[in-house]
Amino acid sequence: MVNMTKVRHAEPSDLSMLIPFDLFPGDRIVEIVERRMLVAEVSGSVVGYLAWQHRGCLEKDYINKLVVAESFRRQGLASTLLDVLCKRLRGRVFIATGARNIAANALLAGCGWAYAGEIVGILPDDEAQVFYRKDLG
Ligand SMILES: CC(C)(COP(=O)(O)OP(=O)(O)OC[C@H]1O[C@@H](n2cnc3c(N)ncnc32)[C@H](O)[C@@H]1OP(=O)(O)O)[C@@H](O)C(=O)NCCC(=O)NCCS
Repeated sequence: MVNMTKVRHAEPSDLSMLIPFDLFPGDRIVEIVERRMLVAEVSGSVVGYLAWQHRGCLEKDYINKLVVAESFRRQGLASTLLDVLCKRLRGRVFIATGARNIAANALLAGCGWAYAGEIVGILPDDEAQVFYRKDLG
């Protein structure tokens, strides 16, 4: 993990730091206000985040956003964000990514997420959406 990394709940004042690397449409204000978003901060700058939805996948908690700024990838930040969240949630949790997303599939398969199936028809070009699950204590 990068030195000086801190994982914490997102705050509205983080929004401007997310814009340069956020890959998801819209802003993140709802997740922030509802306390459903964690950020990874390196030396005072927010360089990654994840967000989740309570009962967002067939009544199970669902991590629906996870992104790390390109220049901070492969330094353990996504793994750390997931680890911190997994200590805070309980029960069966789901996350999904495109079948062609090599980085995300390698990340999830490598840190204890179990393959849970695929759905074709959510993503464009018939790319399967691959679901993973984890059972938390
Ligand atoms: C997927 C993503 C979040 C990974 O973030 P990251 O901080 O780079 O991930 P980590 O550093 O924690 O990676 C942990 C492990 O995942 C695997 N991994 C991560 N990126 C990889 C890549 N590009 N190719 C192959 N394996 C990769 C490796 O096993 C890595 O361990 P290692 O670096 O010791 O080999 C990042 O690439 C990203 O933001 N991508 C765009 C958004 C996205 O696809 N989100 C996924 C939604 S589920």
